[in-house]
Amino acid sequence: MYQLCRHLPTAVVLCISLPVCAQTSLPDGPGKEFVEAACVACHQTNLIANSAGYTHERWRSLIGKMMDLEEPLVGDITQYLAANFPEKYDRRPTLVSGDARVTFLEWDVPTLGQRPRDPLMTPDGMIWWAGMYGSLIGRLDPGTGEMTEWKLDPEARPHSIIDDAEGNIWYTGNGNGTMGMLDPETGEITVYPMPDPDARDPHTPVVTNNGDIWFTLQNSDMLGRLVPDMGDIRLTGMPTERARPYGIKEDSDGMIWVAYRGAPKIARIDPDSWEIVEFATPNPDPQSHHGNYYIRRLAIDSNDTIWYVDSGRGYLGRLDPETGETREWLTPSGPGSHPYAIEIIDDIVWFNESAQRPDVLVRFDPETEQFQSWAIPSGVGIIRHMRATHDGNLVIHQSSTNTVGLVLIDHES
Ligand code: HEC
Repeated sequence: MYQLCRHLPTAVVLCISLPVCAQTSLPDGPGKEFVEAACVACHQTNLIANSAGYTHERWRSLIGKMMDLEEPLVGDITQYLAANFPEKYDRRPTLVSGDARVTFLEWDVPTLGQRPRDPLMTPDGMIWWAGMYGSLIGRLDPGTGEMTEWKLDPEARPHSIIDDAEGNIWYTGNGNGTMGMLDPETGEITVYPMPDPDARDPHTPVVTNNGDIWFTLQNSDMLGRLVPDMGDIRLTGMPTERARPYGIKEDSDGMIWVAYRGAPKIARIDPDSWEIVEFATPNPDPQSHHGNYYIRRLAIDSNDTIWYVDSGRGYLGRLDPETGETREWLTPSGPGSHPYAIEIIDDIVWFNESAQRPDVLVRFDPETEQFQSWAIPSGVGIIRHMRATHDGNLVIHQSSTNTVGLVLIDHES
């Protein structure tokens, strides 16, 4: 639910995914006034009060990823935050060692506090991302570190991107109910408004084998298809009320799979008939799902088996589409770890534990059923979506620390 909380002269502030807008009152002290006035340009102060807390150095580095502040102001604020929100240890991850080897590369993206997310690598080796709060699309050349940002309509607030076979970058205009296409050659942006005013928040897209773009609309409880040649958009509701369709993937038969954030279910849509079949996932203790957090995302292996993360319960799960049977594994950091993004590379499952600080990348080998995990070096969070590269690596990001990253996977290890 996106709720309009307050207007500032320079920014429209939206409460992200909270049932009520949480403007937590902060402890008194020098620096409080500034924090209450300026740090809320992008998010509410509850993000500060509910954070894991950080050391002096970490607070300084973290706020430097969101705002360009000068001394003595930055010193005062850092002092205030470090004194009132020191590091807590209850969100430290449980890391699992193992034999697999990875190398993390991370880049700070240019516009501060832009909420970079959902990166991907195009066949030419460029890394692209959506800057949701900055309402932009960015491109990184990982060879040179050179970055370019394309500004979209400030209201577009792209939630995600996907590339098509021609090299265009499509984005979901989550803030203004649009889909859009950036032609990187010309810089031209084509906007496709939703044909229905109830279709407010295009969320995650996937390009199917025939070139159509399917996308979820989480809070509108809809699923959409855009046919690029005609610019035609068709929408459908979901059979389950408040399903909150979230992650989306296509299997090798061209079936579309959708994860429900609002219900313990995964849906399969036949793209020809638009028939929707729902599969139940385990839901032993409905109370444990803090206000409707079920499955964020899913991934599909080479046998068309569905893998998912139950974010609300902290489980990795597997769904057999033939039998509807599921099997689940508790994540290494446990029920509160909020696994979020998931991807499969060579039938190895990768996901992250987004509630831990630092955020954690986890590897799971379905054959041995062994986990291995690594703290993400830039050290805060969150990976919201991650995707494989054509050469078997993984593109990641951190939405708080304003980075995009590349995880080089040593396939010999
Ligand atoms: C230009 C936008 C912007 C401004 C201004 C801003 N932030 Fe943020 N902040 C972000 C984004 C984006 C995130 C990541 C939110 C997400 O992942 O949903 C974030 C996340 C956070 C978090 C959560 C860190 C974690 O554990 O993941 C804290 C704490 C925080 N901000 C503190 C501050 C403070 C303190 C200030 C003022 C000095 C500030 N922010 C100003 C954009 C901003």
